[in-house]
Amino acid sequence: LENGLARKPPMGWMSWAAFYCETDCDQHPRSCISELLYGDMADRLASEGYREAGYVGVHVDDCWMERQRDRSGALVPDRTRFPSGLKSLADYIHDKGLKFGLYEDYGTKTCEGYPGSYGHLKIDAQSFANWTVDYLKLDGCNIDVNLMEKGFPEMQVELNATGRQIVYSCVWPLYLLPKHSEKIDYKYIGDHCNLWRNFDDVKSSWDSITSIIDYYDRNQEKHIPTHGPGRWHDPDMLVIGNENIDVNMATAQMTIWSIWSAPLMISTDLRTIKPEFKKILLNKDVIAVDQDKMGIMGRMIANSSNVFIYLKPISPTADLRSSFAFALLNRNTTHPFSAEFDLESVGLEDAGGYKVTNLWSGEEHGRLLPSDTINMTIPASGAVMFRAVLVDLKPKHHKIDRFL
Ligand code: DGJ
Repeated sequence: LENGLARKPPMGWMSWAAFYCETDCDQHPRSCISELLYGDMADRLASEGYREAGYVGVHVDDCWMERQRDRSGALVPDRTRFPSGLKSLADYIHDKGLKFGLYEDYGTKTCEGYPGSYGHLKIDAQSFANWTVDYLKLDGCNIDVNLMEKGFPEMQVELNATGRQIVYSCVWPLYLLPKHSEKIDYKYIGDHCNLWRNFDDVKSSWDSITSIIDYYDRNQEKHIPTHGPGRWHDPDMLVIGNENIDVNMATAQMTIWSIWSAPLMISTDLRTIKPEFKKILLNKDVIAVDQDKMGIMGRMIANSSNVFIYLKPISPTADLRSSFAFALLNRNTTHPFSAEFDLESVGLEDAGGYKVTNLWSGEEHGRLLPSDTINMTIPASGAVMFRAVLVDLKPKHHKIDRFL
C-alpha cells in the first residue's frame, strides 16, 4: 500500500503467540490481556535495547474489548482490564518513543467473539484515530470470504479518511486457504494493505516454524515479486523465548524471517526472557539484513532432504551486481550437518569476490572468491547465516566522461 508507511518490514512486540486470550486477571494478574501487560512490555522495549534495535511497536491483539459497543455504536475497551482507556495507554507507549498497534476483525465478531467491525468501519476507524493508533491488524474471522475483496480495501479508505497515518495489516489471504486460494491476488492485496498474513498462526513449536517455512518455500515464486517496501508478506510472529523453542530453533526462525524481509514481531514475555534468546532477537547484523532498504524477499535456491539454502540480495550494490545474505537451514531434528561449500554453489559469482561475515558467530572470513570454500557445522533444527559484501563496489562499465 503506497501510503508512505512501512517502507521497511514493521518490528515490534505482539501479545498473541505468548498470551493469547487470557482474560482472567484475578488468576493471572501478570499475563492477562490488560493495560498492565502492554505497559510492562513498553517498559522493557524502551529500557532493554529493543527499541534501539528497531522493535518499536507495542501491539494489542484480540480480547481487549467489552462484549458490547456503547450507545453511540463505538467500541469500548474492557473496563476492568483497561481502566485508563486506550488513549491513555497510547500516550504511555508514545512517551517511550514507541508506536501503538491495535487489533480488530473485519467480520461480525473477532475470532474470540468480541464485536467485529462489519457494518461499523467508519466509526471504528475514527475510534482508532482518536486513540492515536499507529498500526491496525484487521483479522478475518466470522465473515463470508467473498466479501473480503471489497471489505478490506474499504477499511483502508476509512483509515485514510481519518487523516491519521495508520499502518494497515490485513489477516486476509490466510482465510482464503485452502478452498479459495485461486482468488489470492497479492498485487491487489498489496495495493490496499501494508502487510498481510497468508498462512496459519505460528505456535511455539519447531513443527509450526517449519510448516510456515514449507508454505513460503512452495509459494516463493508468487511471494517474491509481490513483496517490498510498503507491501509485505507476514509469516507471523517470532516465538523466540517461548517454551519448546531452543536456541538453535530460535536462530533458525530469526535467520529465515530476516532472509525474507519479514515483519519481526516478538511474542514472548520480555520480563522473563533468558539472555541467550534476547541476544538472538537483538543481533544487529541479522536485523540489518531483515531491514535492508531494498526489501527483497530471499529465495530458497537449493535443497537436499534436510538442508535448505537461501539467498537474498542486499545492499550495497554496483551496476546490476549485488551483495547478499545467505543461509543454510538444517531441518534434521537430531543430527548436525557438516557442510563444505564454495561461494559459487550458493549463488555468489562475482569475480571480484566478497567480504564474508558469519552473522551469528561474528567470524570474519575476509575476502573470498567464488571458488573459495567455507566449512561449517549446522546444528540440528538450526541455521547458519552469512553476509557477503561485494569487494569491487565500483561500477564495472565506466561511461566515458565526454559522453556524460
Ligand atoms: C487469528 C490470527 O491469525 C492471530 O494472529 C490472532 O490475531 C487471532 N486470530 C486472534 O483471535
